[in-house]
Amino acid sequence: MTLIKIEHLYKSFDKKHYVLEDINLEIFSNESFCLVGPSGCGKSTIAKSMLRFIKPDSGNIYFKGKDIYAIKDYQKYVSFVPQDPMSSINPRFNVLDAVLEPIRIMSLAFNTDDVLNNILRLGLKEELLHKKVRDLSGGERQRVAIIRAFTTKPELIIADEPTSSLDAIHKNTIASLFSEIKGSKTLFLITHDIKFAQKICDKIGIMHDGKLIEIGGKDDIFKSPRHSFTKKLLDSYSLKCEE
Ligand SMILES: Nc1ncnc2c1ncn2[C@@H]1O[C@H](COP(=O)(O)OP(=O)(O)OP(=O)(O)O)[C@@H](O)[C@H]1O
Ligand SMILES: [Mg+2]
Repeated sequence: MTLIKIEHLYKSFDKKHYVLEDINLEIFSNESFCLVGPSGCGKSTIAKSMLRFIKPDSGNIYFKGKDIYAIKDYQKYVSFVPQDPMSSINPRFNVLDAVLEPIRIMSLAFNTDDVLNNILRLGLKEELLHKKVRDLSGGERQRVAIIRAFTTKPELIIADEPTSSLDAIHKNTIASLFSEIKGSKTLFLITHDIKFAQKICDKIGIMHDGKLIEIGGKDDIFKSPRHSFTKKLLDSYSLKCEE
């Protein structure tokens, strides 16, 4: 079943040039889709459009066949790990309240032990639970943002560079978490971390200058990229493209 369908999406912030130009994309239920591309090419703008944070100039986004703007309580189905965790978390909250906030806002039932286990599993120590988010390190905040996105049990998780502030050990922890849920949730991931993409994703979309220039299965993109920019991008990540 198609979970998300994007049709002819255009967005301009300055009316001079398009940040998104005719984006078309289909993501199936329980598929993991990775969006890869250079800085400023429009990746976060696609994610924010899917979340209704940014209104496109034209085009449509459908969730299970329904226009996302016509869906009541859309945030119950879709959750977000933002590129900058502080943009969505009140810095005065302590870790526990920050993690529980989305569940409380949506009045969802939760099991305290499950929430605590999730926090500890991602390497956040128990003594951090009552520490204020503003006093956390970047990597600790990023993990709080990831836990928040998982606790509401959404159908779709959109994660914008979820491993960018993490050291190698914590990157592996997060990759394992995403690997575990892969196949039972729909994932839309933006990442510069090609190893992470290789591990998690079924499908990859390559973006360049506001356009989705190539979409394909993971093996197709990594082993036989069609577009010259995809080859260049993979080379820049020091990955050998097999002929
Ligand atoms: N609210 C906004 N107002 C004006 N311009 C914006 C706004 N949001 C994004 N842009 C511009 O749109 C372009 C795409 O931004 P976007 O954040 O989608 O890039 P990105 O691919 O996510 O980059 P990065 O990898 O650096 O996060 C950039 O040139 C950015 O400056
Ligand atoms: Mg971005």
